[in-house]
Amino acid sequence: MDGGLRSTCSPSNGEQSSARHVPNTFCFALADAHSKTWICVTHRSRFSKPGDYISMEFAGFPVLIMLGKDHIARAFHNVCRHRAYTLTKKPAGSSLVLGCRYHGWSYDTKGSLVKAPQFDGIDGFDKAQNGLFKIHACTDRNGFIHINLDAGDDIYAPDLEDLMDFSVEHGISSNSKWLTGWEMNGAFNWKTIGASDRTGIGTSNSSAARTSATESFLSMFQRPCIDLSTFQTSFAAPVTILFAFPGWHIWATMTALPVSALQTTIKCNIYSNDGNALTPTDETKFRDFFAARIMALEDHYAATKFIRFEGVPDQLPKLKAHLQLERRSGREIYPGKRESGNSESFCKAEKLCNELDMLTKIGRNAGHARVDSVQVRLDW
Ligand code: FES
Repeated sequence: MDGGLRSTCSPSNGEQSSARHVPNTFCFALADAHSKTWICVTHRSRFSKPGDYISMEFAGFPVLIMLGKDHIARAFHNVCRHRAYTLTKKPAGSSLVLGCRYHGWSYDTKGSLVKAPQFDGIDGFDKAQNGLFKIHACTDRNGFIHINLDAGDDIYAPDLEDLMDFSVEHGISSNSKWLTGWEMNGAFNWKTIGASDRTGIGTSNSSAARTSATESFLSMFQRPCIDLSTFQTSFAAPVTILFAFPGWHIWATMTALPVSALQTTIKCNIYSNDGNALTPTDETKFRDFFAARIMALEDHYAATKFIRFEGVPDQLPKLKAHLQLERRSGREIYPGKRESGNSESFCKAEKLCNELDMLTKIGRNAGHARVDSVQVRLDW
């Protein structure tokens, strides 16, 4: 990816809110940096069977990544095409059909609309035109999944050279196995994560390097605990850092998801190249490892009020250009935003929905038996 760096770190001793609700500078950064950039968000091994999905909020856009029956991972806006409610709020799950809880519109693993109660009989309503909005997505040779939120079709190909080199060097491939993952919160600006790779901050981790007497004793009978004190990193700009641990068939990712100018959600994921599961001790070590990285990033941000663009050095001119464009246009511009529901048939069906909603509301207030029976039949 652009701006990819690699460094070797050997410590001496011992990862629906909306960008529209946060300060403008933060919006500009998100709108431009995330809406027109390829973003490494996960790995193919995160999905084991058709219907497996993960969801996340990215730059104010709810994103859904799902494995199709054809075993291709696709990305969609996690937004129902009916009235734009979030389709699934679960961070991960598995289902061959995702149904919207509000009025029952359902989508298959390719994002196609397969069920639209009350709309089926509407003259001119075309299910094929009302599938989930797609997000550009690609899976690279080593299994990393990249998305690009740009709503246009004229997008550049991702630059994967550094990521490829790092993957080859550390045996990372599409055959790697996802072991576990979790989210953590960080009190720092999302761009700070780019600085961690360049400056080596967050590399001091005495707790991960320390071995207790109990661990030493158990290691005589079990496979040795993973040593996380020496690792190599690669920065898949703008939001993901990869960690490889020489001598161990384990690698990990830390992905920064902006929440606000001062808050970041960090997705931490651990993978294996040999398929061996983590022991509880190893998982604890990883939790300490990531916690130490995040604390160091918080300290660094607090000390420097790091608001420059080290992770995306080419973004500042773009953000200024974006700001000027919005000023000229007199409105906020979100390159990844998609609009829906303007066709005549959609409007006709939507009018029917509104009328039924109104009848239901009136009936509820008046205790009207006939309208209540309509509601039961519709099962909305
Ligand atoms: S908002 Fe999803 S079915 Fe109505």
